[in-house]
Amino acid sequence: MTNKQLQKLLKDMSLDEKIGQLTQLAGSMYGSDAIVTGLLDMFSINDKALEMSGSVLSVIGAEAIKKLQDENMAKQPHHIPQIFMYDVINGYQTIYPVPLGQGATFNPDTVEKLAHMSAVESAAAGIHVTFSPMVDLVRDARWGRVMESTGEDPYLNGLLGAAMVKGYQGDDVKAKGNVAACVKHFAGYGGAEAGRDYDNVELSERTLREDYLAAYEACIKAGAKLVMTSFNTLNRVPSTGNKWLMKKVLREEMGFDGVLISDYGAVKEMINHGYSRDEKQAAEQSMKAGLDMEMMSTAYISHLKELVDEGTISMDMIDEAVMRLLVLKNDLGLFENPYKDGDPKEEKKLILCKKHRELARKAAAESFVLLKNEDNILPLADAKGASVAFIGPYADEKQIHGSWSFPNDYNTFVSVKEGILGNVTTAKTTFKQGCYRLDHNKKLKDGSMFEVNETKKEKMLNDAIAAAKKAKTVVMCLGEHFMQTGEATSRTDLNVSPEQIELLRKVREVNPNIVTLVFAGRPLEMDVIDELSKAVIYCWFPGTEGGNAVADVLYGKCEPGGRLPMSFSHKAEQLPNYYSRFRSGRPNNGTLDQGFVMGYIDQADLFKYPFGYGMGYSSFEYSNVTLDKSSITRKDTITATVTIKNTGDRVSTETVQLYIQDLFGNVVRPRRLLKGIKKVTLKPGKKTKVSFEITDDMLKFWDIDMNYASEDGDFRVYIGPDSLTENCAYFNLHQ
Ligand code: GLC
Repeated sequence: MTNKQLQKLLKDMSLDEKIGQLTQLAGSMYGSDAIVTGLLDMFSINDKALEMSGSVLSVIGAEAIKKLQDENMAKQPHHIPQIFMYDVINGYQTIYPVPLGQGATFNPDTVEKLAHMSAVESAAAGIHVTFSPMVDLVRDARWGRVMESTGEDPYLNGLLGAAMVKGYQGDDVKAKGNVAACVKHFAGYGGAEAGRDYDNVELSERTLREDYLAAYEACIKAGAKLVMTSFNTLNRVPSTGNKWLMKKVLREEMGFDGVLISDYGAVKEMINHGYSRDEKQAAEQSMKAGLDMEMMSTAYISHLKELVDEGTISMDMIDEAVMRLLVLKNDLGLFENPYKDGDPKEEKKLILCKKHRELARKAAAESFVLLKNEDNILPLADAKGASVAFIGPYADEKQIHGSWSFPNDYNTFVSVKEGILGNVTTAKTTFKQGCYRLDHNKKLKDGSMFEVNETKKEKMLNDAIAAAKKAKTVVMCLGEHFMQTGEATSRTDLNVSPEQIELLRKVREVNPNIVTLVFAGRPLEMDVIDELSKAVIYCWFPGTEGGNAVADVLYGKCEPGGRLPMSFSHKAEQLPNYYSRFRSGRPNNGTLDQGFVMGYIDQADLFKYPFGYGMGYSSFEYSNVTLDKSSITRKDTITATVTIKNTGDRVSTETVQLYIQDLFGNVVRPRRLLKGIKKVTLKPGKKTKVSFEITDDMLKFWDIDMNYASEDGDFRVYIGPDSLTENCAYFNLHQ
């Protein structure tokens, strides 16, 4: 439709119709079971809401979506098509690494390809919008949603979030194989107090702007069509009704003119927050804050008409919100084709096709982080006489995905056992579960029951120990349950289950040659696993091709490509913790008993493994950092260069990282900040120069007067393999 036609449509719409467009309901609300199960009553959803709603979430499949689209458009007075949205955050049916694992790739190209693959599959399944990327900055692994983020760094989150937006939307969101991206959760959700999901977020404006908002802005600059509000209060005002955050920061400063949608029920939840007296006030506050669409609550559809009639809300406000929805539907071409790419045949052909599986397999290996490799025990040899016992609850487990994945068929997943048996031809391998992922029966957050058979436990353990005794090498496959990640999964204990640790200890008593794989959606406590293992690979939740990727990496077909997107602390009690922290007036040198210094008397160093850390199967040497200038004005650019050499015996890829430290400021500055990444692949013995351009933009911060500007002074440039590198050079910035 032309803009003129859209304007005419808006003019012709009744107020009821306009308000209906601003409501999104879950697909489960449609159909007879919603009445039987009482869902409609629970969410106080009536027939009018069902008929008039402008959007549906969480319906999948081209056929189901077409059916619902046809039924609902027929009831719409102007037959306006609904827009279908879904959480496709790490693959639709070809599931790839959880976003934290994607963060570990440090590779925007990979992340863009993955996003595009999931767009192709989900678009064919009839979906128009994905609720991704989630770019909440995270510094506290107790918060289960760190799994959905790409980590603790503003630069990395912005780089990868923008890559996801491009991957989902392409150059024209209407084109085949593209879906609209919805950046979430605006804003600061990852800063929930003590990692408690849905709790208050208290941030200085400087920290909010400098650390938490940067990645959302990068995604908006990349053209994201939607933004979703977060559940939390931000400095005691719920994001969803937060005028300063939505009108001033998002709309005026960031220039976002797309659709702003609430999170699930977040409008109504402002009553629980004690911000709204009732739904009517919640509707007024949200509309005045600029919220366009209300997800899964009915404050708008129940009260906006009254608010307009009494003059509290103007028709212009309503029209502004409705027009944004109509423009989005038009951008997707839904007025011409309400089904967009939805096509059951295409869906069947594209989902889990060979090309998609290969991409998922490669990305999984690139997300794995090699944390330790004593005696170069890895890669293993697929040779005669080699014998490996795979032991642990993930030795033959297909649930190797995050909790926002909904595979139609688990048989499409490749477990570790299937991956090994399908790729290792000579070495002798055995597989023993040893214990369960969780020690006892547990009701999971989706309401399902995880059950353990107490009588089986002892035999499982004994069988595993017997297998470990016979094998030359043991590969332990441990981890948290996938339902312990994602929304509503904050934990105070960040260990794998005690029985998994007991299994590891008992295996270690009979065999010291242990490689441990960890499957998790967050940094776990690793001191014991590290101490008892010769090698450790963090696999996150790798998705459909996880077992094949494990085989590829363990047996050296490729190397683990990941670097840590989040710092690992020794203990949960140290959290929140992150590399870009501030210096103290009483610096800690990483030892105990220093007396009056910053830190703990019972824990020496800050990190178990630092941000950016990870190993490959080779080694690299870095030359000193050289700068082509040592003093610049704001108009200049500095080129910082190192020469790196592959000093090992295999082709290997190094993730070269650029950090900058502002040594003095009118507010204190972080110890260092990531400002550049380059992945370089070299053959053994080969070397190459790696350069980064440093500009004034990279030196800006929110200064003492809350201006975003750089300040004259001295800077240190680090270039190295992780956030602890001391390989550095200095330069000065002056007028
Ligand atoms: C959830 C999540 C959000 C998701 C939405 C729709 O509660 O907070 O990330 O996109 O509801 O499923």
